[in-house]
Amino acid sequence: MSSWIKEVVRRREVVGGLGLSALLLLFPSMAAAAGPTLKASRVGQKVVYRGYVYTVVKSKGKLIWKQGAKVATATASATAKPTASATPSASATPSTSATATPTPSPTSTEGAFVANSSELKEGQIKIIEVNTTKNLYTSYSFSRLGGKVYAVSVYCTHAGCKVVAGKEELICNCHMSIFSPYDGAAQSGPARLPLTRYEVMERDGKIYIKP
Ligand code: FES
Repeated sequence: MSSWIKEVVRRREVVGGLGLSALLLLFPSMAAAAGPTLKASRVGQKVVYRGYVYTVVKSKGKLIWKQGAKVATATASATAKPTASATPSASATPSTSATATPTPSPTSTEGAFVANSSELKEGQIKIIEVNTTKNLYTSYSFSRLGGKVYAVSVYCTHAGCKVVAGKEELICNCHMSIFSPYDGAAQSGPARLPLTRYEVMERDGKIYIKP
């Protein structure tokens, strides 16, 4: 037997000695061509095997797997782009409504008219006769300090003499008592009690007293 004939015989023996499974391991492409190991049971049966679709067909009276199209690999889904969050709108700045300055309301009626406001200047002390009721005139001391008008009685609390206006005080010449023209307090002399105070109101340029 020639040497090349011996080689052919040796190779056939080697191949014959290898099992089908070993061949498939050595040559994966062969495995793919051989088809799935699942038993073909009916014509039209499909299965995906190693990336290919296999369909059962009938060939020479036998059911065999026929390799079909390659299965497309699913691509990663697109990552959803985050949407920009809405920018919070600036809150409305609360408007500050102007607060009306409360106008002091008189606690009583206007009372008896005394004089125009312009007639009693800051720091002045005046004895004014006021027509209180039915042409009955009564004298009062009026003074202005810090813009405010004050009124006190002109009758001394010692013995009832009538006081006169000094530069910054009221003076009783009977016994030389001195009084404050603003709150009527007795400041010196025999008088101890203050002169009676009266409520005064100034409105629209006019001074009123409530006897
Ligand atoms: S009556 Fe005025 S001090 Fe006496």
